[in-house]
Amino acid sequence: MNTAPVPELFTWEFATDPYPAYAWLREHSPVHRTTLPSGVEAWLVTRYADARQALADQRLSKNPVHHADDAQGKSKTGIPGERSAGLMTHLLNIDPPDHTRLRRLVSKAFTPRRVAEFAPRVQELTDGLIDGFAARGSADLIHEFAFPLPIYAICDLLGVPREDQDDLRDWAGMMIRHGKGPRGGVARAVKKIRRYLADLIHRKRLGDGDDLISGLIRASDHGEHLTEDEVVAMCFVLLFAGFETTINLIGNGTHALLRHPEQRAVLQSALARGEHGLLETGVEELLRFDGPVEMATWRYATEDLEIGGVAVAEGDPVLVVLAAADRDPARFDHPDTLDLARRDNKHLGYGHGIHYCIGAPLARLEGHTALATLLTRLPDLRLGEDPAELRWRGGLIMRGLRTLPVEFTPR
Ligand code: HEM
Repeated sequence: MNTAPVPELFTWEFATDPYPAYAWLREHSPVHRTTLPSGVEAWLVTRYADARQALADQRLSKNPVHHADDAQGKSKTGIPGERSAGLMTHLLNIDPPDHTRLRRLVSKAFTPRRVAEFAPRVQELTDGLIDGFAARGSADLIHEFAFPLPIYAICDLLGVPREDQDDLRDWAGMMIRHGKGPRGGVARAVKKIRRYLADLIHRKRLGDGDDLISGLIRASDHGEHLTEDEVVAMCFVLLFAGFETTINLIGNGTHALLRHPEQRAVLQSALARGEHGLLETGVEELLRFDGPVEMATWRYATEDLEIGGVAVAEGDPVLVVLAAADRDPARFDHPDTLDLARRDNKHLGYGHGIHYCIGAPLARLEGHTALATLLTRLPDLRLGEDPAELRWRGGLIMRGLRTLPVEFTPR
């Protein structure tokens, strides 16, 4: 019989390295009832097979009205402030048939082709940000690189005029406290963003632009359009589902590469030879190994059901722990080894099923461009701080660093 104590979750040590606790849970209590720091009781699903099944199980709803203790339906997407600003009706809070309709409409505008055509602009943004610190020989890669890149990229794609993008960057920074703004003020920042987006969408409606907002306005399906409120909520979720996630892809990914010098050296020489295959498998592996989304956004049981043989009652919240599933030895060989060339890598970092990340092509484009450009332009990039001193943010849904100090030969 197992006598090992249940590991403590949600401590500082856990935020720094949750993987030993996840290994314990996968082995001893794979569907684990716990009390979250907020006091809410929830189930953590940590094995790959259970996680994949739960993500596709339509009896697990995304709509917070199904939470037994939370009849007001508070948002649990990890996106701050959306409820108070009336921005709840978006993909991450709804189920079919509404989800099917909205997802079909947004897919018509947010196409892989639109993203592919955007590649030169992502390269230009990436180079511009590196130009800002390359001569200095040191930088904080979170604040100076990983934070601004995705917000400028999604603003450009949506069609936010350049002169307004710094405002959005600052409001977004207030929301997740990466920026220079004062602490707090989340609700105020979200309201400003909402007002800004509603006004911008109104102006776009009068024009015939080819940006993503104009595409969303025009998207139609059997004569159906997105309503004004739906376009606002859609722009909001595109901004924020893709913002902190991409910061953390770049932050966690660079951190993992700098801590695995042999792997990084192989990638660097492949890039120097102009070979990009290892970059593509490598970014998928970085997502598996230490991905931005630690737990998928919340789900609620709409009836009594079983997950991995454990009874889950109607109304119970369920958190699918992607970070634990993606290190499951039952699915991945040597799961704790970073192997940039890993081929059999169906990780759950972008989720699975109907809520699979709609921004994955954009995230991949940004991840590939950011990492390849950093390693090529700053070839001797190294950590500027003892890894033990690095601070992780310790949120429930996202996993990411507060800062990532680096050093390199000035260029
Ligand atoms: C959904 C991860 C980047 C927009 C998701 C989900 C995950 C995820 C795990 C599913 C959540 C769930 O099932 O509860 C990531 C990661 C990213 C990333 C790891 C970066 C590395 C982006 C970007 C955008 C975006 C760049 C948009 C520009 C969305 C949206 C959804 C979503 C709108 C909801 C889809 C739906 O419910 O149908 N993402 N994401 N994501 N993501 Fe991403």
